[in-house]
Amino acid sequence: MADPVLTVAELLRPVFTRIAGGLDSDPVVRRSDRADAQVNGSLALAKALGKSPREVAQMVLDACDLSKVCSATEIAGPGFINVTFSNEFLARELVAAADDVRLGVRNAPAKLKVVVDYSAPNVAKEMHVGHLRSTVIGDALVRMLEFVGHSVVRENHIGDWGTPFGMLIEHLIDLGETEAANELSVGDLDSFYRQARIKFDSNDEFKERARARVVLLQGGDDETLRMWKLLVGESTRYFDKVYQTLGVLLTSDDLMGESAYNPLLAHVVDRLRASGLIEISDGAEVVFPDGFLNRENEPLPLIIRKTDGGYNYATSDLACVIDRVERIGANVVLYVVGSPQSQHLEMVAAVSRRAGWVPESTELTHVAFGNVLGADRKILKSRSGEAVKLDALLTESVERAAEAVKEKNAELPAAQQAEVARQIGIGAVKYADLSTDRIKDYMFDWERMLAFEGNTSPYLQYAHARICSIFRKAGIDRASVRRITPTVEHSAERALTMRLLQFDTAVWDTLDKYSPHRLCTYLFELASEFSSFYEHCPVMRADSEEQKMSRLALCDFTARVMEQGLALLGIESPEQM
Ligand code: ARG
Repeated sequence: MADPVLTVAELLRPVFTRIAGGLDSDPVVRRSDRADAQVNGSLALAKALGKSPREVAQMVLDACDLSKVCSATEIAGPGFINVTFSNEFLARELVAAADDVRLGVRNAPAKLKVVVDYSAPNVAKEMHVGHLRSTVIGDALVRMLEFVGHSVVRENHIGDWGTPFGMLIEHLIDLGETEAANELSVGDLDSFYRQARIKFDSNDEFKERARARVVLLQGGDDETLRMWKLLVGESTRYFDKVYQTLGVLLTSDDLMGESAYNPLLAHVVDRLRASGLIEISDGAEVVFPDGFLNRENEPLPLIIRKTDGGYNYATSDLACVIDRVERIGANVVLYVVGSPQSQHLEMVAAVSRRAGWVPESTELTHVAFGNVLGADRKILKSRSGEAVKLDALLTESVERAAEAVKEKNAELPAAQQAEVARQIGIGAVKYADLSTDRIKDYMFDWERMLAFEGNTSPYLQYAHARICSIFRKAGIDRASVRRITPTVEHSAERALTMRLLQFDTAVWDTLDKYSPHRLCTYLFELASEFSSFYEHCPVMRADSEEQKMSRLALCDFTARVMEQGLALLGIESPEQM
C-alpha cells in the first residue's frame, strides 16, 4: 500500500467497524491542505451512535495506534482527524516502493481477460484524427492494464468489409492493379476512395458492376477475394507504418476486422431468431432493444439484416461480442471509439445482453472520446479541407521538435538530436491527446503541445532528463543510490515523497474511469513538485554527504516514476534533451 492515505484508511477501517458495532461505516481519508491527510468518517458514525462527532473522533484515536505512521494527530473542526505522517514512515514507504518492480503500484486483485478494441481505421480511407485518438488512448489503456497484471487482447476492428468494396474493387480493375497499388502505397487513400465514389455516383454502368461485385465478394468468388485482399493489404501496410511511427503496440497480428466476423453473421441471425428477438420492420430483420427511442419517440430498431439480405455494421458488432465473450473468454471489453457511436454501441450491448450472450459479471464499456479541433474550433482538417494525413502530421511534429532541440542542446551529436526530436515530437502529439479529459473535444495547437513549460510532454520529459543530467554531471551511477533510505525532512522533500507514493493511486484512478488524463495530471504535479524540491533543497551542494545521497535517492526515484508513468502513456523518456 504505497499511498500513505490508503495505509491510514486501512488501519482505521477495523477500528471504525468495531466502534460502529457492526454498522456499515468507513473511514473517509482524504488528502488535505491543513495536514497531510484528513479523516472525515466520524461525522456519519456519530449520527448512527447518537454521540458528538468530536467524541467519536476521540474514541477512534483512543482505540487505534497510529504511532507507526503518524507523528501527530489532532481533532479539528466538527470532528475531523488531521493526520501528519511521520518522516520515518514516509522514508520507509519510499524505500519499499523503490524496491518494487511496479514502483508501489498494486497488482490487480484478480487477473482479468480484457479485450481492447481500438484504432479501427477503414480500408482504402485515410486514417483520420479520430483514429489517432482511439489509437493513442487505447494503447495507453492496454499498457496500464498489462502493468497491473491483466491479460490483454488487442483487437483492431478495421472496416474491411461491406458494400463500398464493390466500387473499390471495380475501380481497382479500371486502374489496373499495378497503378492502383502505386496509388494506395503512397498513402493516397482518400483520393482512391473519392475517385471510386465519383464514378459510382455518376456512371450507371459502373454502379451496376459495383453491385455485381459485392455479390461476388459475399459469395466468396476467388478472383474477387484476391483483389479485395490486395486492397486490404495496401491499406494495412499504411496503417502499420503509422503505428510504427507512433510507437504503439498494435501490429498486424492484432487485426480483427469486420470481415473476420463474416462467417458468423448468419449464426447471429439464427441465434437472435431462436431467442424470439427478431422482428420484421419495413421488410428488414431487426431487434428492438428496450429503452431506445427515435426522435418521434418510437422504438428504435437495431437493423440486423437489411431488406436486400445484406448484413450491417451492427450485425458484425454482435458477432464480435459473441466471439469476444465465448471464444476469447473476455471479462471486460473496452470499445475505444468516438462519442458519435455511443448509441450504436449501447444498442449492441443491450441486444447482446438481452439475448443472453453476456454474463452479468462481464463488462462492456464504451471508452468514448471527443473530437480533435483545429484553431477555428471545427474538426481538424488540412488546409485543402481534407482529412489530415496522420503520417504527415507526425512528421511535422518531429520536425518542429528538431528545431527546439537544436536551439536548446546544439552540442548534442546530430544523430542523437534526431532521436531526441523523434521522442519529443511523437510524445507531444500523444500527450496533447491524452492529457485532456477524453470525453471533451481538444484543440490541436502545435505551440502549446511542444512547449517546454506547462502540462506538456516536453515538460515532463525534461524533468526526467534533468535528473539524468544531475547524475551524469556528477559521475554517479543511478543504481548506486537505490539502497539508500532517504531522510525526509524539508517540507519540499515531504511533498515530493508523498507525491511519489501516490503513483499507485494515480494509476488505479486512471483505470477506474479509463481516463488517461488522470495519470497525466499526476505526472504534471510530480514534475512541478520536483521543480520546487530542486529549487529549495540543494542536491550536489547539500549540507552533508549524507544529505546529498539522500536527495540523490529522491531524484532517482522521481526519474523512475516519471519514466514509468510516461511509458504507461506510450511516451519515451530521453536522458538528454
Ligand atoms: N471502423 C470504425 C470507424 O472508423 C470503428 C470501429 C470501432 N469498433 C467497433 N467494434 N465498432 O468508425
